[in-house]
Amino acid sequence: MQRYQMYINGQFSDASSGKWFDSYNPYTGDVWGQVAQGNADDVHRAVTAAHTAFTTGPWPQFTASQRGALLRTLGDLIARDARKLAEYEVRDNGKLIAEMAAQLRYLPQWYYYYGGLADKVQGTVIPLDKKGYFNFTRNEPRGVVAAISPWNSPLLLSSWKIAPALAAGCTVVLKPSEFTSASSLEFVKLVAEAGFPPGVVNVVTGFGSEVGAPLIEHPLVRMVAFTGSDTTGRAINELAARHFKHVSLELGGKSANIVFADANLDDAVNGAVSGIFAATGQTCIAGSRLLLQDSIHDQFVEKLTALARTARMGDPMSLDTQVGPITTRPQYEKVLRYIDIARQDGAELLVGGAPATRPECGNGWFIEPTIFSGVKNTMRIAQEEVFGPILSIIRFTDEDDAVQIANDSRFGLGAGVWTSDIGRAFRMSERIQAGTVWVNTYRALSYMSPFGGYKDSGLGRENGIDAIREYLQVKSVWINTGAASANPFTMR
Ligand code: NAI
Ligand code: MG
Repeated sequence: MQRYQMYINGQFSDASSGKWFDSYNPYTGDVWGQVAQGNADDVHRAVTAAHTAFTTGPWPQFTASQRGALLRTLGDLIARDARKLAEYEVRDNGKLIAEMAAQLRYLPQWYYYYGGLADKVQGTVIPLDKKGYFNFTRNEPRGVVAAISPWNSPLLLSSWKIAPALAAGCTVVLKPSEFTSASSLEFVKLVAEAGFPPGVVNVVTGFGSEVGAPLIEHPLVRMVAFTGSDTTGRAINELAARHFKHVSLELGGKSANIVFADANLDDAVNGAVSGIFAATGQTCIAGSRLLLQDSIHDQFVEKLTALARTARMGDPMSLDTQVGPITTRPQYEKVLRYIDIARQDGAELLVGGAPATRPECGNGWFIEPTIFSGVKNTMRIAQEEVFGPILSIIRFTDEDDAVQIANDSRFGLGAGVWTSDIGRAFRMSERIQAGTVWVNTYRALSYMSPFGGYKDSGLGRENGIDAIREYLQVKSVWINTGAASANPFTMR
C-alpha cells in the first residue's frame, strides 16, 4: 500500500498524531493508498516554516525575475511528468485519463504565464497635488497564503492559487482535499526539484475541520484561497473575516446553458452534453440548467437524449470511456438523493436516474447520465448545486424570459448562450449575471482569462492578470523632498 507523508519545510514527515487515513479509487471502490492525517500541530509547523521562508529565508532576497525563472522551471518539470501526474489523479479521483492527461499537459502554462508576469508587477508614481513630496506605490506580497483545494481537478485548481501566489512573492501552505491528496504530494517533489527554497511551498494533508480550519485561523496566515462548496466557502469566509484575512473563493454554481431557436442545434446538443456529462458533471462550471426555447424544445430533447444514451461508461483509464465514476462515496450518495428530490418535486425523468449497473462499471461509484425535463426553476434541482451527471431542462419563451430564468439563481459562475444572432450574443453576454459567459461554446478556460463568480459563486478572480492582484497589497510611500520643516500641528 502506497503511503503519503505531508511536506513541511522541504521535508516529508509523518503527521504529529502518527495517524493515517485511506484514499480510495472510485473506479474500484477500493483503498489504494494512505495519507498522513494532519492536525493543528502540523498546521503550526507548516505555517511557521512558510512564515520563516517569507520573512528571513532566501525567498525574499530573490528578484522577481528569479522567482519567474523558478516558476518556468517548475512548468518544465510538470510537462516532463505530465502523464505520471495525470495517472495519479485518475486513480485517486476517477476522472477520465483523456481529460486529466490534457489538463496536465496544459498545466505548465500557468507556471509559464505567472513566471512571465512576476517581473511585470509595477508600482506607480502619483502625480501629487502637493509640492515638496515624491509619492509612489509598491505592490508587496501579502505573506503566507493558505490554499485549500477540492477533489475534482486537484492539481489544476491548486495551481490557479500557487502560481500567482509565488509570482507575487508569497509563500504557500496547501491543503488538498482529503479525497485526493496524492497528486499534490507528487507535485511538491517537483517544486523542490525546481529549486524553490524550503518552506516556500508546504503541503499539509487531512480533513477540513482538523487541518483546514486551524490553517485559516492561524495568526501568521494572511490570505485564504479556496475552491469548493458554497457551504464550506461561507464558513471559511466567516472565519477569515474574524481575523481580517483576504480571501479568494470559487464556490461552484448552477449555470444556465441557453439554447435559442436560431442556434445551430447540433453544436448546441454537443455543448449541452459537454456542459453536464463531461467530467461526470463534477465541475463547478457544469451547465446543469439547460434552457430551451419553446419552438425547438421537443426536437432538441430528442437529439440530446439520443446522444446521452450513447455515452460509454467504465474504466477511467481507458481512452474510450466517456463518463467515469463519481469521485467520492458521499458525493455518489448526494447525487442519488438529488435524483429522488427531482422526482418528488415533479420533474420528468427522460434518461438514466439510477446507479449504473453496466458490467463495465464493476463496483465503482457510477451513476447513469440523467436528464429531467419539465423542470421549474423554483425546484430544488434547479436551484441547488448537485455536482454530478444530472441535467435539468427548463423551457423559455423569449430573450427576456431566458435572462430572467438564468439570473434567478443565487449562483453566478458561468453561462452558455447558443444563437446565430450576433446582436443577441452581445445582449445576452451583458445581461447575464455570471463571471463567465460562453457564446456558441462551453467549458472553455485559459490561464489568461479571468475566472470567478458573481453572487454566491464567490469572491475574487483566478487566472489572468487580475489573479495576481489577489496576492498583493499596495503600499503608498511618501518622500519629503522639501527643504523647510512644516508646522507640526497641521495635516500635511
Ligand atoms: P468542500 O467544499 O467541503 O471541500 C473543499 C475543501 O475544503 C477540502 O479540501 C476540504 O477538506 C476543505 N474544508 C472542508 N471544511 C473546511 C473547513 N471548515 N475549513 C477549512 N477547510 C475546509 O467540498 P466537498 O465536501 O469535497 O464536496 C461537497 C460539495 O462541494 C460537492 O457536492 C459539490 O457540490 C461542491 N464542490 C464544489 C467544487 C467547485 O469546484 N466549486 C469542488 C468540489 C466540491
Ligand atoms: Mg481518492
